[in-house]
Amino acid sequence: MKLNIALLAGDGIGPEVIDQAVKVSDAIALKFGHEITWTPALTGACAIDAVGVPYPDETHEICLKSDAVLFGAIGHPKYDNDPTAPVRPEQGLLLMRKKLGLFANVRPTFTFPSLLDKSPLKRERIEGTDLVFLRELTGGIYFGEKGRLDGGETAFDNCVYTRHEVQRLAKKGFELAMTRSKKLCCVDKANVLETSRLWRETVQAMEKDYPEVTVSYEFVDAVAMRLVQWPNSYDVLITENLFGDILTDEASVISGSMGLMPSASMGDKVALFEPIHGSYPQATGLNIANPMATVLSAAMMFENFGLMEEGQAMRDAVNKALEAGIVTEDLADGGKAHGTKEVGDWLAANI
Ligand code: IPM
Ligand code: MN
Repeated sequence: MKLNIALLAGDGIGPEVIDQAVKVSDAIALKFGHEITWTPALTGACAIDAVGVPYPDETHEICLKSDAVLFGAIGHPKYDNDPTAPVRPEQGLLLMRKKLGLFANVRPTFTFPSLLDKSPLKRERIEGTDLVFLRELTGGIYFGEKGRLDGGETAFDNCVYTRHEVQRLAKKGFELAMTRSKKLCCVDKANVLETSRLWRETVQAMEKDYPEVTVSYEFVDAVAMRLVQWPNSYDVLITENLFGDILTDEASVISGSMGLMPSASMGDKVALFEPIHGSYPQATGLNIANPMATVLSAAMMFENFGLMEEGQAMRDAVNKALEAGIVTEDLADGGKAHGTKEVGDWLAANI
């Protein structure tokens, strides 16, 4: 297969982890006879520095023309500490999601047999955890009207959802549940929020189209608790944007390291694949960041093209590295910590 991939390395550790995912993907291409053309493009703080905006039109064009986007991370501390900055890297991420129509963010949470004792949660609680969040990504409070009133003394962020936005996300949730254990959890706060009542009502109305799927409706605060108590009780969870942001960070501790969790964002155009860990500025350039989440994101990319064996080969290499202790310092636990690049080299060599 010929694949044109837009490569958005972004900021912080983004370029380092992206380099490793490219290396491992190229090894896959060589082994399975594919041809990958990578087209780099600017996004985030580095784009602001270069051209003044965090998601340049040129980058958008490159993404639209590609078969998929592989993305590193966005963010720089110089903006975090300056609330008055007129333009921020994160705006680039939100704009990219909106303009590419990436309304469904797929965030799987699973455990690795060799890391069960690395999680802060007890082994017997997390063993066998395999769940997927489908987080709505282009609506809700992130994109509602926001502003200041009262000479700056009052601030507001509106949370808005349309029935159509809920339906298209929920449809993906039902479809995914059908390919798994046929269990779907709709996460909301319908005891308080009107948008949540619209979510619940919309999902309830769709149940008849998927008679085999058992749907549970749970409040987000209760899910936050049960997620760490009995993660095994969940399979597919659908959430609005902000709830999904919060719960997926919480869920990442189940696996033992945030440096292991990949994600995919889908919509009606091109799909985007990225690690969930963010730009981790303190580690930038130190060759210590864990590249596995980005490698696993590339695995999701191959699988999305229907290249299941290729994706599995990448997952197998990661599992093998974890078992062999070829890991970065976040997982080294007193043992030898390998560099980002060395882990990438090892994974590529073991494809
Ligand atoms: C994520 C991130 C982003 C979000 C930030 C960087 C804007 O936390 O992808 O989860 O809140 O969506
Ligand atoms: Mn987040």
